[in-house]
Amino acid sequence: MALRTFGPDIITEKCTRCGRCVKVCPRGVLAMAAGGVGTTGEECILCAHCHDVCKFGAIDFQGALRKPVYKSFPYKERVVKPGKIEPGLLVNFARSRRSTRRFMDKPVPQRTLLDLVEFAITAPSGSNTQNWQYTVLPTRERVYGLAQEIGNFFAGLNALVRNPLVRWGAVPFLGMKLVRYYRNNYESVARRLVESNQGKDPLFYGAAALILVHSDGEGSMPHFDAQYASYNMTLLAHALALGSCFIGYASEAINTSGKLRRYLGIPDAHRVHAAVAFGYPDVEFYNLSLRKPHAVHLKD
Ligand SMILES: Cc1cc2nc3c(=O)[nH]c(=O)nc-3n(C[C@H](O)[C@H](O)[C@H](O)COP(=O)(O)O)c2cc1C
Ligand code: SF4
Ligand code: SF4
Repeated sequence: MALRTFGPDIITEKCTRCGRCVKVCPRGVLAMAAGGVGTTGEECILCAHCHDVCKFGAIDFQGALRKPVYKSFPYKERVVKPGKIEPGLLVNFARSRRSTRRFMDKPVPQRTLLDLVEFAITAPSGSNTQNWQYTVLPTRERVYGLAQEIGNFFAGLNALVRNPLVRWGAVPFLGMKLVRYYRNNYESVARRLVESNQGKDPLFYGAAALILVHSDGEGSMPHFDAQYASYNMTLLAHALALGSCFIGYASEAINTSGKLRRYLGIPDAHRVHAAVAFGYPDVEFYNLSLRKPHAVHLKD
């Protein structure tokens, strides 16, 4: 994705030449010149830091940037300064977000789903590329339809790898991929396929909606960007009394199968970085999340 090569417009009548925008710009796009703030010709990444440090409203992006709009909950803009949110509240909030694997049979309003996307895009992204797209399956029927398509995909894959000649014969072309799949996933997928044939939804757990985050792979770190955007959605979902769950099996299947991408209308050149199921949770957690011990390497 090409970076913009021009900078913001400076409204000279409002500019006091305080120089804050010049100092904050991460790309050296702005410079103080004799006539006021000018642009250097360096690439602008549209991060809007210059705009956000200007106290005088002297920076304009001519419609290239917009404020997010939320329609499913009251929202009043307010800058939360560093240190001005109770850290314990934030930690408890993050520890209360859990992967939901039981959903009520209750639809999620479409405007709520669109608000999740609207919050996703506030995530950071490498070089501010924001190169992400969102495919929203807004109803239980659509999610279940995809579950069945993915079930067909895995049934085919399991039938294939069951044959040792196929999984070992594919090593020169696919490496150990099929062998590993057989070792690590075959049995659990087979169990889920049985449940699926019984009319259950072991993939999406009966979720009322699904949001896929995908991109054409341009940008410096599209996979990370999409993951942060997805995590944002799970946090807002929790604030909106919704449950959520990342469904890695779904993104893997869609990335492997052109048929699934066509079913979803996702371009072949795109990679699905995350599939997140949403719905009203049919489970209540009374305790906060616990984590395994982990290594911290503090260098002096
Ligand atoms: C990239 C990614 C893929 C995941 N895929 C699945 C999945 O396919 N099915 C599932 O039940 N949980 C999935 N999860 C959820 C994890 O299992 C879960 O986050 C982890 O067990 C910790 O639990 P918590 O989210 O409740 O704290 C996934 C999580 C991530 C980050
Ligand atoms: S921060 Fe605003 S007022 Fe200060 S120099 Fe930049 S445009 Fe002018
Ligand atoms: S938007 Fe960001 S990169 Fe562009 S001029 Fe402003 S601070 Fe610099």
